[in-house]
Amino acid sequence: MASLKLIFSLLAVALLSCSQPQAFPGSSFGRAAGGYTGLTPDFYRFSCPQANEIIMSVLENAITKDPRMAASLLRLHFHDCFVQGCDASVLLDDSTATRSEKNSGPNKNSLRGFEVIDEIKAKLEQVCPHTVSCADILALAARDSTVLSGGPHWEVPLGRRDSRTASLSQSNTNIPAPNSTIQTLITKFRAQGLDVEDLVALSGGHTIGAARCVTFRQRLYNQNGNNQPDVTLEKNYYNGLKVACPKVGGDNNISPLDVSSPVRFDNTYFKLLLWGKGLLSSDEVLFTGNVGKTVELVRSYAESEALFFHQFAKSMVKMGNISPLIGSKGEIRKNCRKVN
Ligand code: HEM
Ligand SMILES: *[C@@H]1O[C@H](CO)[C@@H](O)[C@H](O)[C@H]1NC(C)=O
Repeated sequence: MASLKLIFSLLAVALLSCSQPQAFPGSSFGRAAGGYTGLTPDFYRFSCPQANEIIMSVLENAITKDPRMAASLLRLHFHDCFVQGCDASVLLDDSTATRSEKNSGPNKNSLRGFEVIDEIKAKLEQVCPHTVSCADILALAARDSTVLSGGPHWEVPLGRRDSRTASLSQSNTNIPAPNSTIQTLITKFRAQGLDVEDLVALSGGHTIGAARCVTFRQRLYNQNGNNQPDVTLEKNYYNGLKVACPKVGGDNNISPLDVSSPVRFDNTYFKLLLWGKGLLSSDEVLFTGNVGKTVELVRSYAESEALFFHQFAKSMVKMGNISPLIGSKGEIRKNCRKVN
């Protein structure tokens, strides 16, 4: 047993050291599920070399003030990429021309971090006007938030441009609900060119941040319309959750997605799933659902943080490559909240 564990961790270390997702000239550079994306990590090397320093300094401040902000920014990039691709459509406010994605079911009263993106954008417009897209800011902020929380680093392919449109309807249909079955989760990720490995690794983003009572109440009181709790919930964890999330009221009370280390990017999320302590049904079904592959992946990531970090980084690059606008498509917004 001990030697098996040793072999396993050596393997994970070897994997990590030889194939950290290197945008260049390594594996995932410029490639999306559908082929070449045209993105490159050194896109701003000459036009705005200070870009990442500026983003980092704003984030350090924002996350020190509000540790949950790292999680909120990681989630923003996900909700951007699943709707028309990673084009900053999620940042557009309501206007006569735009029905904002901010009002969709998954986003309303839920997404956070817009002010931090505004602050980054304002600083970048001073230093390198009309250069760095809002979509790239979201991708870099997601990576930097991960790093600042103790998670893996990866090279971010850049050069995305910003959309002139948003899609409220795609936002409602493409982003999976927290009571989705394992099959629905797989299908919705598949529709974005993401496979089961991506689904499980990216769900590990729930190692940081929190969720509102309304997103997991069904599990506590009425899992299958039978007035019974979800049987996969561990007993003590369940009792605590009922206090935080009563049957009636407290809709906006929040609970940590990773109850043991809510601001630390680590592999505890997967360990908690093994113990019946996943917060959302969509978390727990990765382990209790009837798909052998996801169960096996949850076990591997619970066993090896290195393996999880490696796959998370790789899957984040892949998610970031979903249908970018490049070349003369789209625009570089001056204000992330509205089209030029
Ligand atoms: C697999 C399907 C997913 C579902 C069903 C899902 C669902 C949710 C829900 C319901 C919340 C709480 C929202 C609220 O309380 O208003 C949440 C929070 C969060 N999600 Fe996901 N999510 C999924 C995948 C992802 C992915 C792929 C990432 C990023 C890689 C991610 C990152 C986060 C983060 C960091 C938070 C906490 C945000 C905060 O504290 O502000 N999620 N998610
Ligand atoms: C999921 O939650 C939504 C909104 O509360 C509800 O309408 C739907 O029936 C639920 N789906 C399942 C599979 O329980």
